[in-house]
Amino acid sequence: MATTSPLNLEYVRSQFPGLDRGWTFFDNAGGSQILKGAVERINTFLIEKNVQIGGSYEVSQAAAAALYEARTAAMHLVNASRPEEIIFGNSTTALLQNLARAMHSQLSPGDEIIVTIADHESNIGPWDRLQERGVILKTWPLNKDSLTLDLADLAPLMSERTRLVCVTHCSNLLGSINPIRAISDFVHAKGAKICVDAVAFAPHRAVDVQAFDVDYYVFSLYKTYGPHYALMYGKHDLLLELDPLYHYFYGRDKVPAKLEPGNPNYELAFSTCGIVDYLVALGEQAGETGSVRQKIEAAYRAITEQENQLTERLLSYLRSRNDCQIVGHSFNRDAQRVPTIAFRFDGRNAADLCKAMDSEKIAMRFGDFHSRRLAEYLGLTDHGGMLRVSMVHYNTLEEVDRFTTALDRILSTPEGLAQAS
Ligand SMILES: Cc1ncc(COP(=O)(O)O)c(C=O)c1O
Repeated sequence: MATTSPLNLEYVRSQFPGLDRGWTFFDNAGGSQILKGAVERINTFLIEKNVQIGGSYEVSQAAAAALYEARTAAMHLVNASRPEEIIFGNSTTALLQNLARAMHSQLSPGDEIIVTIADHESNIGPWDRLQERGVILKTWPLNKDSLTLDLADLAPLMSERTRLVCVTHCSNLLGSINPIRAISDFVHAKGAKICVDAVAFAPHRAVDVQAFDVDYYVFSLYKTYGPHYALMYGKHDLLLELDPLYHYFYGRDKVPAKLEPGNPNYELAFSTCGIVDYLVALGEQAGETGSVRQKIEAAYRAITEQENQLTERLLSYLRSRNDCQIVGHSFNRDAQRVPTIAFRFDGRNAADLCKAMDSEKIAMRFGDFHSRRLAEYLGLTDHGGMLRVSMVHYNTLEEVDRFTTALDRILSTPEGLAQAS
């Protein structure tokens, strides 16, 4: 069936110079391609404003203004209420480790933190380590039948000592979106706070921290069309309560600086402006004429539509094979699945199949994708774990077809038939 893209794919792909090099990039949940506009912002900063902020001289003032512009762009990207609610950092892992450290003085022995079995290790490990300080860690299990995180399973874990619930907005293995507003309402009603890993969500859907009513919300820019960098949103009053991670004279009120020890990387932070410019352009192409935020939301609606086509194309192929186990939901009901799709073939080793794709110039990944506890919980670690195709809106139906054709060929050749090892 002929399908038309809701996006101008020619324009979209022209904005990502890395797409020109003959590869099909299906490892976007590992890292997406970077926008030309993000690279340009990095260059502009380095060439025109590459000095330390805080000086009285003009170039230093310009550097500080660029950093503020970056925070403002990030504010629009996540719909925060003010730029100071944005903390930049090297990676989601580093930001979450910093957050856990900055909570030391507000956690006492016997306080409880809940993590989920369905999270990437980034949003488990830092909380796990707080057990050394007497904090009690509890794990919210995944319903193995529905593959969902159910509030009914969270309820018995909550107590008057629960301080924080740490949960992923979207699993990087199952590809399914969790109902984050319902979860935050539930958690807040019990007097606790919520910390959300949105790494697998932010490339695919508009982030709206106010609509989600989340307390801390973190994702990586290098999977959201930017460079290797990340950001955290925190509610301003909660950021004020966090312990300073910088020098002693950066007091509690120095938000966001006290949470960015040694300062953020200015040029990478500045690249956020390039990401927002791009989303605004997509929103305008979709006919939106309103505010920056409205354009971002329109962009993501078009992105979702395009991605739904990719998801359906791949899922329908995988469903049609009787030797394939799709990990996660095999249908994209209500667009609650992003095009991050993990699967296994009976008796085949995921590593072998993945490596066979290398010579097809199809970049994908195998293993547990650092959601190791979930992979172990679901019994998916043997035979090289899972294969994962993770697409974003710049991927095309033709690329999906190229992949499935190559897969058919590989699975039917003697090398492809190699038994699971
Ligand atoms: C869902 C999820 N959370 C967290 C991370 C870690 O992100 P970072 O590499 O920025 O620490 C990843 C990286 O793959 C991820 O997929």
